[in-house]
Amino acid sequence: MLEKIEELLGQVQQFHTKNKEEIEKFRIAFIGKKGSVTELFEKFKEVPNEQKKEFGQKINTLKQAVNAKIEELKSGISEEAVTEKIDLTKPGFPLELGSRHPINLVKNRIIEIFKSIGFAVADGPEIEDDWHNFSALNLPEYHPARDMQDTFFIEKDPDILLRTHTSSVQIRYMEKNEPPMRILSPGRVFRNEAISSRSHCIFHQIEGLYIDKNVSFADLKQTIQYFTTELFGKSQIRMRPSYFPFTEPSAEVDVYWGLNSETDYRITKGTGWLEIMGCGMVDPAVLKNVNINPDEFSGFAFGMGIERIVMLLYQMSDIRMFFENDARMLEQFKHL
Ligand code: PHE
Repeated sequence: MLEKIEELLGQVQQFHTKNKEEIEKFRIAFIGKKGSVTELFEKFKEVPNEQKKEFGQKINTLKQAVNAKIEELKSGISEEAVTEKIDLTKPGFPLELGSRHPINLVKNRIIEIFKSIGFAVADGPEIEDDWHNFSALNLPEYHPARDMQDTFFIEKDPDILLRTHTSSVQIRYMEKNEPPMRILSPGRVFRNEAISSRSHCIFHQIEGLYIDKNVSFADLKQTIQYFTTELFGKSQIRMRPSYFPFTEPSAEVDVYWGLNSETDYRITKGTGWLEIMGCGMVDPAVLKNVNINPDEFSGFAFGMGIERIVMLLYQMSDIRMFFENDARMLEQFKHL
């Protein structure tokens, strides 16, 4: 009987067809109700006990070989069926490309501009402690300027909060590195402001920081002018005195947008000037907080909101559009 099994195994291995019906016939002949393998299982009872083990193993091997053969043959026909159906002359399926979010487009453009004059990108966490977001930036606990940047607190005493500006990255970077340094740090910031239905708790900023020997206000002005020329094609800027606890002196930068269209009148409120960022010379007290000697080094910092710049560049009228994820808006940036 063992010989019979060997013989059947040989037949199984040699069998080949691409015909569906032939495969079915093969199945019936071997493992159908009256198939030869099925018969062998029935005869198993008659096998003397001492041979049962060997016989059982062989017959199972045979059964597995039959099943494997059937699978193999079936996959052969399905492949063939598919190849027959493919029409190579048909045009391909159009693969819809996604688009970058306008905020990222503009962010990347700004990074590119500053990279070309030696600024590297530095990152910081969105969840900050009091030291990096406020205290080290010369905003001690009871400083009134903190009121302008209320935020969301994750823990109290010690305070852990969502950062209100990217200036926290200045501190983190200066703590870990030695001057000279030139960094740009883009990211999300948070403020607890619900002044109007248009104001939003989340927005994006880009921070710049340059610390070296003999950095002056003239360097700051030149750098910003280079930036506005590259980004907007507008080189006329003005700096108005302002106040930030971490810079001294501080300034607000306006770029001259012009009054060529009705939109220009609207967005500049008839003045032709547009405010684009805050900046100033890094306050010596801040440098001391991060163990940089203010007698040896000086530097400037600036910070700008990205949404506003995107709205200017793409003439978008409502800041809420950035967060709605409306595909009709996003699709318009597909080719940029
Ligand atoms: N952090 C300031 C803000 O969010 C902007 C700023 C950055 C001002 C760097 C001066 C220097 O309003």
